Amino acid sequence: MPTLRALPASSLPLSTWDFYNTPMLRIGSVQLENPVLLAPIAGYCDLAFRLIVRSVRGPSGGVGLACTDLLCPQAVLSENDKSMWLAATNDDDKPLCMQLYGAHADIMADAAQWAQQHGATTIDINMGCPVDKVTKKNGGSMLLCDPTNTIALAKKVVDAVRVPVTAKIRLGWDDGSIITDSLPPRLADVGIAAVTVHGRTTEQKFRGAARIDQGMLPGNLDTIKAVVDVMAKRHSNVPVIGNGDVQSPLDVKAMMDRTGCAGVMIGRGALGQPWLFRDAAHYLRTGEMLPPYPRADRARLVLQHFDGLMQMRDERYALAKIRTRISWYSKHLQPWPRLRHEVHHMKSVSEFREYMLRGIEHIERIEVEHVNHDDPVTMVA
Ligand SMILES: Cc1cc2nc3c(=O)[nH]c(=O)nc-3n(C[C@H](O)[C@H](O)[C@H](O)COP(=O)(O)O)c2cc1C
Repeated sequence: MPTLRALPASSLPLSTWDFYNTPMLRIGSVQLENPVLLAPIAGYCDLAFRLIVRSVRGPSGGVGLACTDLLCPQAVLSENDKSMWLAATNDDDKPLCMQLYGAHADIMADAAQWAQQHGATTIDINMGCPVDKVTKKNGGSMLLCDPTNTIALAKKVVDAVRVPVTAKIRLGWDDGSIITDSLPPRLADVGIAAVTVHGRTTEQKFRGAARIDQGMLPGNLDTIKAVVDVMAKRHSNVPVIGNGDVQSPLDVKAMMDRTGCAGVMIGRGALGQPWLFRDAAHYLRTGEMLPPYPRADRARLVLQHFDGLMQMRDERYALAKIRTRISWYSKHLQPWPRLRHEVHHMKSVSEFREYMLRGIEHIERIEVEHVNHDDPVTMVA
């Protein structure tokens, strides 16, 4: 297992929530520090990235819970190399949700036990993946289409472990088969401790806007709010976590206000701005925006992320991964001309490191000059 370490955390007097009484999020026996969670994003949310996210903390803390990417239960049980990289974690990677996908109840239950023994604070059952490879084997969002078997599977997993088990769902397979008011309470009946709702149908994949609520219209079932409403009536101790299109602290607050959800899960919005959890947690707690995370520190995170990837695997892997990640980071590092282009053509670790260090130095220099001379900050050489 890799030995990546998170950066030291700031000290956190975390006692009350003030801003409009934002509730604390508790999943079964697990009390989270903040109600803002990192989503699973296959190929992205590995240990190196989770530690980057966890390392960015402010006066109100940082990410409440981070999730592994979806894990194949058979693969983790056979402990093959690839699945061990995907499931890799360490003591700094807490609290951690491990997500499993599949339709075979016994195998899922065994894999849940494996996850519990290997560092999972909570275990999530993937009920939302629209990818053919997963749904053709009746896993992912295919579980939404077979509620009886899905409930039996959920019960088997819940009964197999001590840690809380959660489910991540979509609104339904398509507009004709919305499950927002039927499946979530039945999942809670068998002990599912929280339900995360991605506000799209499977058929939508990632198209269109996430369906959060329907403005002031009552009674619309195809929304995240519909799940919150039904759970408030039938299982008020089982939190609903809203997910979809959240990019900023204001979006987090809007998701909570519009749906009444107890937590918000962020996926793509965090890929280029791992400091989003720090910012959102602070905004929820105080109603105030933290000053923007400094640009030089953003660039340092990219370098740290790269070092983490190196520790996890090797030079080739780290270079390949950072190339896929730089376009996400680049949006939040501008102005930095040719950043993506340059990184895409990097051939070695030293070349990448030196390039990033020069960039960081340059940002720091022009920011000092900017403060001294009140000149506009322009570009990285
Ligand atoms: C490339 C990609 C991979 C994803 N992988 C997973 C996954 O492994 N498990 C899962 O439950 N959801 C997965 N999702 C869905 C996200 O967790 C999330 O529900 C979705 O992207 C909407 O949230 P966002 O707008 O904050 O990204 C994936 C999404 C994308 C774009």
